[in-house]
Amino acid sequence: MISTVTLNPAVDKTVYVSKLVPYDTNRVIKVEVDAGGKGINCARMLARLGAQARALAFVGGTTGEFVAAVLARDGVIFDRVQTAKPTRTCIAIEDATDHPPTTLNERGGPIDHAELVSLLEKTKEVSRQSSYVLFGGSIPLGVNDDIYNVLVQIAAAAGARPVLDADGEALAEGIKAKPFMVKPNMDEAERLLEATFRSKADVGRAAIKIAEMGVELVVISLGSQGAVAHYDGLIYDAVPPEVEAVSTIGSGDSMIAGMLFALELGQGIEDALRLGCAAGAATAMSDGADIGEKSDVDRLLSKVKIRKIEPARQ
Ligand SMILES: Nc1ncnc2c1ncn2[C@@H]1O[C@H](COP(=O)(O)OP(=O)(O)OP(=O)(O)O)[C@@H](O)[C@H]1O
Ligand SMILES: [Mg+2]
Repeated sequence: MISTVTLNPAVDKTVYVSKLVPYDTNRVIKVEVDAGGKGINCARMLARLGAQARALAFVGGTTGEFVAAVLARDGVIFDRVQTAKPTRTCIAIEDATDHPPTTLNERGGPIDHAELVSLLEKTKEVSRQSSYVLFGGSIPLGVNDDIYNVLVQIAAAAGARPVLDADGEALAEGIKAKPFMVKPNMDEAERLLEATFRSKADVGRAAIKIAEMGVELVVISLGSQGAVAHYDGLIYDAVPPEVEAVSTIGSGDSMIAGMLFALELGQGIEDALRLGCAAGAATAMSDGADIGEKSDVDRLLSKVKIRKIEPARQ
């Protein structure tokens, strides 16, 4: 079984207007509401791919019930830590112009001490039954930035392979506990290494640097450009097919789902990257915060190109 842990899930609400006018009344054309959060997305994609997926998350209030209902609908086993505060809502306002969406993201939390202790205990339980445990996303108020360091250690001690998908301090601290896998996107990897990448060769060198921090599988994702990975001393360049991208929210989470599912089935790194890219591309094709359809993943799978680009150790 593959499990995910989400500290800061959300109800993602996408509001469509023809042209956003601040300080005025805007007529809403369409509203889409979905569950969000990296671990939530990843577990849903796992279930769609046919994996046994389990999601552990803090949830509270009616928004938390909504997240639980979405997971149930997708066949994800849900373990909750009930919080006094309601699950946050994140709003994206999309208009018909070329501008990126205007987002209004609640911070999430605060989480109290007893709730956090309960999450740590449940992480241990879930990890005992899992091959891989993904820890993903932002950290709510009331929880320290080094939480992923603690969680990665708990998962590893319980016999699971920890996977980390986070940004900034949360990623920098979590990586010190040497998770099995990390999947930063380019911006996240640049922040982690305090560097700017100008080419895929730079990204390959960055992957080696992250591997040297003690991470067995490093995947740096590059949106429509695919991903560069480092595993077992080799660098891989994975390129997805061109798709009509609608919204790439959740592509990275879907990529992790595809990769972990393939690895759990005993497939090699190249097949894992193939399924990861296909799942990420399928999610890029789907609306708003929604994740991709399995039929799209299946169709895209054979179109992903994988290349070993250079031996990392010379
Ligand atoms: N426009 C696209 N066309 C084809 N494939 C895509 C596209 N966007 C993403 N993908 C696939 O999904 C993978 C992950 O995407 P991306 O790098 O955008 O992740 P991310 O920034 O972590 O996303 P998020 O955190 O929102 O889930 C890419 O490596 C690629 O294989
Ligand atoms: Mg991401």
